[in-house]
Amino acid sequence: MSKILVVGGAGYIGSHMVKQLSKSGRIVVVLDNLTTGFRDAARNGQLVIGDLADTALLERLFKEHEFSGVMHFAAASLVGESVQDPGKYYRNNVSNTLNLLDVMVRHCVKHFIFSSTAATFGEPEYVPIDEQHPQRPINPYGASKLMVERILQDYHAAHGLNSVCLRYFNASGADPEGELGECHDPETHLIPLILRAASERREYITVFGRDYPTEDGTCVRDYIHIEDLCSAHALALDALVKGDKQGALAYNLGNGQGYSVQQVINAVERVVAKDGRTLKVEEGRRRAGDPAILVADSRLIRYDLGWEPQYGDLECIISHAWAWEKGNE
Ligand code: UFG
Repeated sequence: MSKILVVGGAGYIGSHMVKQLSKSGRIVVVLDNLTTGFRDAARNGQLVIGDLADTALLERLFKEHEFSGVMHFAAASLVGESVQDPGKYYRNNVSNTLNLLDVMVRHCVKHFIFSSTAATFGEPEYVPIDEQHPQRPINPYGASKLMVERILQDYHAAHGLNSVCLRYFNASGADPEGELGECHDPETHLIPLILRAASERREYITVFGRDYPTEDGTCVRDYIHIEDLCSAHALALDALVKGDKQGALAYNLGNGQGYSVQQVINAVERVVAKDGRTLKVEEGRRRAGDPAILVADSRLIRYDLGWEPQYGDLECIISHAWAWEKGNE
């Protein structure tokens, strides 16, 4: 039976991936240092607690298990923090990824799926953003992810490592079965913050700026359901393992539909009203570094890998996240 290593499998995206992989019959080993992940979230895999900086641990892990592929979700991912502490981002996201790639090369593990980000594009020159769009990141977080994209091209040329980078737009929602969900500390993402305001874990939600050049003046983003995001990873890994795809590939991953902050708030209001809940909204200033509109053109991954999102509807994404939030109030 195929055995997959999921690095960062105790985090938000990684834990959903571990569940999806194990449901499809894979044996999953999770490597996570639990700095931002949760032991319990990794329950669908075999958890090894450890850090990618620990090369001796990596060596032992790859000696003990024969992995058919590796998925890498472990990264620091706060844009603001990356500006304050770039060293953390280059060490965690670049240097530690090199440790992982080198151990893969030493053990002839040739299939790698990498969590990249829309932040590699920087301020968009046009939307929707396709794979041809110039990549000019405007913060160390985006730069660190772009560096790995580049490294993967060189590792393919030098070592025959096949990889797929998936550039996420706004990962959101929760496990439709209600077992897993989103929990960051600090939480900075829009949907969980609005839901906390609806659940009384927060007093209100602040809208970061209403003076953007968009229809209602608030920022527009492309929210993709976590299950759809994970199904893209599974397809990408399958394509590499079967040999349908080779090289260092990259796809943009979103629904291709933009929603403004105000539209998200409206949708949350509709969902939580069913439970008699309301929301308090406050006005705030723009948050530094937020582009007005980020929407993915994901036609390439649909065409190349046959990916089809199942949960494209915003209210569906929010309902799943709300069900989980209610269970954790
Ligand atoms: N927002 C608010 N109020 C809040 C939180 C967010 O108005 O309390 C707004 C933001 O200004 C933004 C939108 O809601 O316009 C979405 O913000 P998120 O923080 O949820 O998501 P981002 O679009 O900023 O971030 C995502 C990923 C990052 C990635 C970034 C750029 O989560 O990892 O896209 O690609 F770096």
